[in-house]
Amino acid sequence: MTADGPLTAVQYGIGPIGSRIAREAHDTGYEFVGAVDIDPDKRGRDLGDVADFGEEVGVTVTDDVEEALAEEPDVVFHSTVSSAATAAPQIEEALAAGADVVSTTEELAYPWWRNPDVAADLDAAASDHGGTVLGAGINPGFVMDAMPAVLSTPLADVDGVTVTRVQDAAQRRKPLQEKVGAGVTVETFEAEIATEAGHVGSTESVAMLADAVGFDLDDIEESIEPVVAEDPVATDYVDVAPGDVAGIRQVAHGYADGEAVVTLDLQMYVGADDPRDEVDFDGDPDVSVTVDGGYHGDVATAAVVANVGPSVVAADPGLVSMTDIPTSFTRAV
Ligand SMILES: NC(=O)c1ccc[n+]([C@@H]2O[C@H](COP(=O)([O-])OP(=O)(O)OC[C@H]3O[C@@H](n4cnc5c(N)ncnc54)[C@H](OP(=O)(O)O)[C@@H]3O)[C@@H](O)[C@H]2O)c1
Repeated sequence: MTADGPLTAVQYGIGPIGSRIAREAHDTGYEFVGAVDIDPDKRGRDLGDVADFGEEVGVTVTDDVEEALAEEPDVVFHSTVSSAATAAPQIEEALAAGADVVSTTEELAYPWWRNPDVAADLDAAASDHGGTVLGAGINPGFVMDAMPAVLSTPLADVDGVTVTRVQDAAQRRKPLQEKVGAGVTVETFEAEIATEAGHVGSTESVAMLADAVGFDLDDIEESIEPVVAEDPVATDYVDVAPGDVAGIRQVAHGYADGEAVVTLDLQMYVGADDPRDEVDFDGDPDVSVTVDGGYHGDVATAAVVANVGPSVVAADPGLVSMTDIPTSFTRAV
């Protein structure tokens, strides 16, 4: 809540994630004043209808960005694409309208490593317009980067950190199960899935976490391999036979002086029997923290985005990351 009332917001991109963000933000108390999406099936409909608020809010979805931003919102929730370079011009439009921006674009979670030019341009645009831009979400944006950074606070020293996220893909939507290759043969996985299935954002998480705990990285490397089913697994969408692929394992290492000091181990497969988010520090002292069951990807992404809104509005102008701003659940805006 500002002195003048609730924060005003525009939803930019109303796919599954944008819908959840808008719903979460609406429930939290943001006042929506615009909504934009290029999907013709959404154009002309009320945001409350498209995003399933349970009520209409008098905001018509448009594909005209200028029209959607005409009310000069406090914050734009941006949720369209994974690529920083593609997202940047969309975000600059929002900045030019005087808004702060929270984006789920994975490459914007920490763009300074892989997309330094985009980062410099967005930082300049944000500063010019007096706005703040934050890449946010659950992964990247929290569970494998900002959360372990916070957990390192009570340690006297950190020599290395490993974060393991195990998700049971059987609990997720059909496209996600297909994306991780559940049910295909190992040969098909190697030929068709491994090149495209990779989660975007591991490099950004490694770079963010390394920066936060003070590792000066020389290199970041990522690898993808199939998780092969040992027993049959049946989900609502696919039957996986023993020996076939249950999902993916993607490992990213950040190296300092040739040594892996940050390791992120992401496993998404059907039938995972111990889903969790686990952080293991090699330090003074060694510490392990486990979130049993792990944070739910879609639910948590929407919550993170809505919850950081007030901090982003309060932040100084520029491009920031999740380790630059205060974060917590926010009961009301
Ligand atoms: N950081 C995280 O933790 C996290 C978590 C979840 C998702 N994400 C990312 O967040 C993004 C959104 O997720 P999603 O599952 O909702 O994706 P999605 O299914 O692709 O939905 C994106 C929506 O935005 C629309 N759109 C695309 N380009 C647009 C543009 N230039 N202007 C206006 N609307 C546009 C799309 O319309 P069309 O369908 O017509 O193209 C679609 O309705 C993805 O990039 C996803 O990878 C990040």
